[in-house]
Amino acid sequence: MFVNVRMPDGTVHRLEALEGWRVMEVIRDWGLPIKAECGGACACATCHVWVGDDWVEKLMPPTDEELEMLDGAFQVDERSRLCCQIIMSKALDGLEVELAPESLAEAPAAVAVGS
Ligand code: FES
Repeated sequence: MFVNVRMPDGTVHRLEALEGWRVMEVIRDWGLPIKAECGGACACATCHVWVGDDWVEKLMPPTDEELEMLDGAFQVDERSRLCCQIIMSKALDGLEVELAPESLAEAPAAVAVGS
């Protein structure tokens, strides 16, 4: 099964996922720069994504904890979810999410050569 992830720069990545994986883990484990500061504990909102319109209804509704954390995120709308709270299942094969800019991890600092 696959998840399609649009990055803030517009690039789209089709990532293979396994049933039971959190979408945040899929994105992180494929090496895309997602902050996900709390590691999936629903305690940070730095894994905020917008879910594709066609997928909003197919997801489990957010828990109170997730909604509380989303309150602290930017540009939240009805498509907003914390992707560490989305568990992959067959029904979500082909899921489309867009990473919110504040969820993007900083590029690694450039290493000075020869110093
Ligand atoms: Fe912290 Fe999802 S990684 S809330």
